[in-house]
Amino acid sequence: AAIEKGNYRHFMQKEIFEQPTVVAQTLNSYIRQVDQSVALPQIDYDLSQINRVTIVACGTSYYAGLVAKYWFEQFARLPVDIDVASEFRYRDPVLEPGGLALFISQSGETADTLAALRHCRAEGQTIAVVVNVPTSSMAREADLLLPTHAGPEIGVASTKAFTCQLAVLAALAANLAVLRGRLGREEEAEIVRHLIEAPACLNAALDYDEAISEMAHLIAPARDVLYLGRGPDYPLALEGALKLKEISYIHAEGYASGEMKHGPIALIDDAVPVIVIAPSGPLFEKTVSNMQEVSARGGKIVLISDAEGIADAGEGCIATIEMPRVHPLIAPIVYAVPVQLLAYHVACVKGTDVDQPRNLAKSVTVE
Ligand code: G6P
Repeated sequence: AAIEKGNYRHFMQKEIFEQPTVVAQTLNSYIRQVDQSVALPQIDYDLSQINRVTIVACGTSYYAGLVAKYWFEQFARLPVDIDVASEFRYRDPVLEPGGLALFISQSGETADTLAALRHCRAEGQTIAVVVNVPTSSMAREADLLLPTHAGPEIGVASTKAFTCQLAVLAALAANLAVLRGRLGREEEAEIVRHLIEAPACLNAALDYDEAISEMAHLIAPARDVLYLGRGPDYPLALEGALKLKEISYIHAEGYASGEMKHGPIALIDDAVPVIVIAPSGPLFEKTVSNMQEVSARGGKIVLISDAEGIADAGEGCIATIEMPRVHPLIAPIVYAVPVQLLAYHVACVKGTDVDQPRNLAKSVTVE
């Protein structure tokens, strides 16, 4: 049956709003609610022997991989190497026995990612694939197939596939941590409880749709926009910038908050909005001091944080977007929503073709 937009103006908007449902659907096949444990679909592979993870992907899927790197290191204490596929495949990477090569792709057909997969196969790596199209080439060539259940994604700019990838990767990180003896039974159950909360938190994040649509006119006239984040939320800054440039054609850059003073701070003036992605938590104060560097130069800040973070640092911002208070593990999943909605509404203000942005393809099957 043809996929319809229903009451939505664009597929992208519909797909943003589907996230609570499809993330729940995806999580359901990776966690067992009865005993609050993580269970991968195909557990017949001995993942406890893995000594290194190499993550390869393109575009938004690559940013999901960047978040996963923080999780694999933090929870499973596994060394992680990550690269975009077009660089990885030509740089003669060192792939030692016992490595897991992990490919992330919505379509499962991206040419560079598929070529990187085949290279890793030839080098004797175990191949794991996080993919949304179960009949795709990458799905067929995987040793460990980890499907996302986002359903067909029509909008060229990826949204629901991204949050579903994050859900799978969080479950995988927890599973690897258990297998490697880094997480006890109680800690595993706690992680599972946080993951189960993600769909409700996504719903709460979607409640800010109208507020975000009202602030879109503040961003739409900008020529450049800077996104800042730290730790596992740094890739969200990259994703926010990517979404904005893809569909609104505004130049945007994502930067690690602490790296801003090594370059982009030179761009800051009152014409450059700075979107700060900063859930409250151990890294919050550091990011606030980066925000102060921006305000001291007349920069206009949009702070995306929870009530506590906004109470602490929201003063002087041109706008704030309040997210529910969430565990740091699910923050990148939940904070994807405001970042997507902001890009979406700015594109609507500008009147661009949101679902079919110029020069972009949904699936890039050329190198
Ligand atoms: C294209 C799409 C992006 C996507 C990227 C990777 O550039 O426009 O939305 O993130 O390809 O695609 P994949 O299917 O491998 O996730």
